[in-house]
Amino acid sequence: MSNTLQKEMWNGRAGESWVRHNSLLEQLLAEPGRECMNLLPLTPAMQILDVGCGCGNQTLELAARLDASSTVIGVDISEPMLGLARELKAANDNALSAEVQFALGDASEPLFDEASFDAIYSRFGVMFFEEPVAAFSALRNSLKPGGKLGFVCWRKPKLNPFFNAPMEAALTVLPAPAPSSPGAPGPFGLADDNVIHTTLRLAGFKDVSVAPLNLTLSVGAETPFDALFEELIQIGPAAALIAQSDPSLKEKAREAVYNRLTDFYASGQGVSFDANFWLVTARN
Ligand SMILES: C[S@@+](CC[C@H](N)C(=O)[O-])C[C@H]1O[C@@H](n2cnc3c(N)ncnc32)[C@H](O)[C@@H]1O
Repeated sequence: MSNTLQKEMWNGRAGESWVRHNSLLEQLLAEPGRECMNLLPLTPAMQILDVGCGCGNQTLELAARLDASSTVIGVDISEPMLGLARELKAANDNALSAEVQFALGDASEPLFDEASFDAIYSRFGVMFFEEPVAAFSALRNSLKPGGKLGFVCWRKPKLNPFFNAPMEAALTVLPAPAPSSPGAPGPFGLADDNVIHTTLRLAGFKDVSVAPLNLTLSVGAETPFDALFEELIQIGPAAALIAQSDPSLKEKAREAVYNRLTDFYASGQGVSFDANFWLVTARN
């Protein structure tokens, strides 16, 4: 069985955290998802796959943009996240024109028939494969000839203070974790544009385009800083580091992250982070 660690993570602490903080994460991350959707052919009678759809917000947004003859399937390995996705679908059913289905499964496996989809979309859901070339080959096989892949992923941590600033602050107090090898499965698994080009070409994709996208991510204009902090401290790599740390150091690490995050806060605007992504498209 592959992707075992990721399955544990997304059915455990990480998945539960994304469910708990879905509303904040969706506000923060809606824009890069929309920029990616704008690159897809959202015309009538589309069959679209949303890879690593998580809590399904983007699957539902795609369905709202499509017509009644279209279908969007969201696939994910995380049961808790798909649980919320199904609840959100039930709550929004009237606003959806296209049919929506959610499927539990590992997208790196050949889950779907050959040539099933006109397009494959993913916001931050394709950086976690243990064997990226095999995974993208399986995804390409499920695309119709000429079908389009579009995804958005994070560039390196130092270009993304949303991750980096809390981590640097926590590391002023806590011992550094063992360094992960470049390109290891995780949020920065596709942070290197050369790796994206090579992986997609080896997986058989054509017309690979990898373009930088720079945005300011903001959230919480009407939320007091302390409440925002209590959410942000539970998200991302710094949260994982603090969760695993010596209990006697946790409070000092939290304080360090709190102080650092105040640099990104302005009253009436909430927190804002400069953010850098790769917008990737390719064809079968
Ligand atoms: C960072 S979250 C993004 C979720 C969602 N796309 C969003 O933007 O809100 C990454 C998602 O990818 C899923 N994932 C990771 N590896 C996967 C795999 N091999 N197959 C399907 N989903 C996977 C995780 O369970 C998680 O829901």
